[in-house]
Order: sequence, then structure tokens, then C-alpha cells
Amino acid sequence: MLIHSATQLLTLAGGPQRGRDLGRLGIIEDGAVLIRDEKIAAVGTSAELRAAYPHEPRLDADGCVVMPGFVDPHTHLIWAGDRAAEFEMKMAGAHYLDILASGGGILSTVRATRTASIETLIAQARSRLFRMFSHGTTTVEAKTGYGLQTATELRLLKALLLLEEESRLDIAITFLGAHAIAPEYKDNPQGYTDLVCETMLPILRQWWETHAPERRLPFVDVFCENKAFTLPQSRQILQTAQQLGFPLKIHADEFDNLGGASLAVELGAASADHLVKTSDADIAALGASDTVAVSLPCTPFGLAECHYTPAQKLLDANALFALATDCNPGTAWNESMQFVIALACRSMKLTPAQAIAAATINSAHAIRMADKVGSLEPGKQADILLLSVPDYRHLGYRFGTNLVKQVIKKGRVYSVDVGYYRTA
Ligand code: NIG
Ligand code: FE
Repeated sequence: MLIHSATQLLTLAGGPQRGRDLGRLGIIEDGAVLIRDEKIAAVGTSAELRAAYPHEPRLDADGCVVMPGFVDPHTHLIWAGDRAAEFEMKMAGAHYLDILASGGGILSTVRATRTASIETLIAQARSRLFRMFSHGTTTVEAKTGYGLQTATELRLLKALLLLEEESRLDIAITFLGAHAIAPEYKDNPQGYTDLVCETMLPILRQWWETHAPERRLPFVDVFCENKAFTLPQSRQILQTAQQLGFPLKIHADEFDNLGGASLAVELGAASADHLVKTSDADIAALGASDTVAVSLPCTPFGLAECHYTPAQKLLDANALFALATDCNPGTAWNESMQFVIALACRSMKLTPAQAIAAATINSAHAIRMADKVGSLEPGKQADILLLSVPDYRHLGYRFGTNLVKQVIKKGRVYSVDVGYYRTA
């Protein structure tokens, strides 16, 4: 199939974009892209590709912007219940970490998740995936972390594997057994840390070999934060995971600077995420590394806080910078990378071009999938968006409505916005 007449085709070609290089969209005016099977076969101007492939079935992009599908590299996709009541408490003045310390927050979602059946968990995550897809996300990372006990964490992993089988999206899976101290270990955080290292991670390794032998090992992540896991505990968990062969991620500096980002760099983690209270030393370490700095602006926005990732400092330090939703029931229940882009532009003074690169090729690198997705280049998966806008800068400029007209996933076309009212 030949997609032609894109007012702008954003290729994002040339690999992940470091530091001030961020924002190279690789724009082809009046662009076209040829899809063969599930992959991109050629990219060029409409005139070039029409002449070279005259007999190919055609899809007229009709003045749309055409770009790679969004890659959302940090979500807590799978949970049961909601925290609307806590949102109300927070708006009335309560603090997120104090709610967690008093047994609510993540722990209230843990209670709901532990008692939910796998069918319920799958049904609720399915509708989130559907909303993500219709807002243009074609690849998503998804974490466990609302079980905090071996059996439930494995049930969440099983649910994620089943969701990927049935859904249109690619799902990169992350084990976040170290999301909070399990309630049973409330007064013994080191005991829970040891349980993660000595029991959960070895069981996970074996479980994965039986249940998903053909897949890459999942990432292992840890919430390095006051009232969650200390820096030494985070190191213990990540080093144990690394010895077992798992690739790594970390939640660092969401509320306090404990040094998690430098730990991620030292251990060669794929990404360090949140990075709000990050120190200059940690920023310099990230800038000299291949660990992607993943910013989650929906989280401070969701908590009504005014501090965001120091994105400009990270870019000056030459870091790899990416964006994600952090979709979760506590701080940021948002499924739209379009909204993340709009918020990133305003809160961190990114240009639309920088935010788009951070939400495609760089976010693909944050889950180590940039060889497959995140740009429109021959050989890559045909994951493509048609946006009903005349210029890419409408991403960022506009917010709160869905600009996606069609989503193409592995070469198959799905219509999102039919552009007119349909009567029943
Ligand atoms: O990334 N910080 C830890 N995890 C989530 C919040 C999870 C929750 O509150 O349920 C986050 O913000
Ligand atoms: Fe998170």
C-alpha cells in the first residue's frame, strides 16, 4: 500500500536524538510511504513513490500530517479500582506520600488489585489500551507493581502477556515488584527488599522461561524514593536483577533526590524516569550515558505540583530525553501522548519538534525498541499515524482533543475519526 499526499511526512530518521540534536523530524513535504506486509518499504515524496510504484493500492493522506505511532515508554497499565476519592483529598491539601504512608495511595490500589480476577484486570486494562491506541500510541511499556506479593505479580505478568496477544499494540513488559513496601512488611522494608531479591526475582526468571520463552526478558524497575526504597535497597534489587540477566529501569527523583539516576547510569539501565528533583551531578551523569532520561509531566500536573523535569539542563548536558504518560490510577490517569506533548511544551519549554522526537524515536530507545519502531524508515514496522492537521506544530499547540484520524499498526489501517456525525 502506498500512502501519499501527506502535507508533511515526519520520518524521525537517523536514530535516537541526543541533547540539543533533539527535534530533527526529517520532514518530507508532500510525502509518501510504501508499506509491504507489516513493514515500511520506502519513504520519499509523493511524486517519487507514485512513479516508482504505479500499481500499488493507494491511501490518499489528503493533506494530513503523517508520522510514526507514539511510543509510550512508562505506564502502570494494569490495576483494579480507582482513586478518585484520594484525588479529592489531595486537592483539599493532603500530600501523596503521606497518603501512601497511612496505607492508602499505591497500597489502596494493591488491595483492589489483589482481590480482582485476571478477567477483571484484563478487561480494565483492555479499555485503557484501546484509548491509548485511538490517541495514536502503537507501542507501550506496561509495569506490574500493584501485587507486591509473588502470586499477584505473576498474575499481572500473565495478564499483560494475554493482553499483548489479543491487542493491536506492542507491549514492553516491566516487573515492578518493588513499587512500594508490601503492607505485610510495613515495619520491615529491608525484609521486603530481601524477598524481592531472594524469592521474587529468581521465580520471575524461571516463570518467564516457561511462559514466554520466545520473548526478551522483562525490565526490572524500582521506586527509589523516601517512603519507598532507599538508594542501597534500590541498588540491591537492581544488581540482583542484573545478575539474573534482566534489563533495568528506575523511578528516580519524583519527590526527593536520592541518587537513583546516577545508580541507573552506573548499572547501564535503559532509562531513569520521573527526574523532577534531579541534582546537577545526576544530570551530568545521565548526559554522559546511554540511559534515557524519561520525563513524565502528567505526574506533577496530575498532583497539581509546579515542578517539572529540568529538561533544558538535561538537553544542555547532552542527555537522551524522552516522554511518557506514567498512566496510573494515583498520579496521572492519562492515556494520551498528545496531551503529554502539549504539556511538555508548556511546562518544560520544549518545541513541538523536540516533544515529538521525545515521544517517538527517543521513547522507543527508552524501551530498547528503536531498531523496530519510533521512525518511518525502510525495514521498520509500519506503525503510522495520519493526523487531521495541516502542520506538525498542531501537536503541542492544541490539547484536549484527539487529532488522530487513522492509526496504521503493522500495515493494517484503523480509522479513529470518521470526520462526520454518524446516525445510529
Ligand atoms: O509513577 N511513583 C510511583 N508510581 C506511580 C504512581 C503509582 C500510584 O500512585 O499508584 C508514578 O507516579
Ligand atoms: Fe511510574
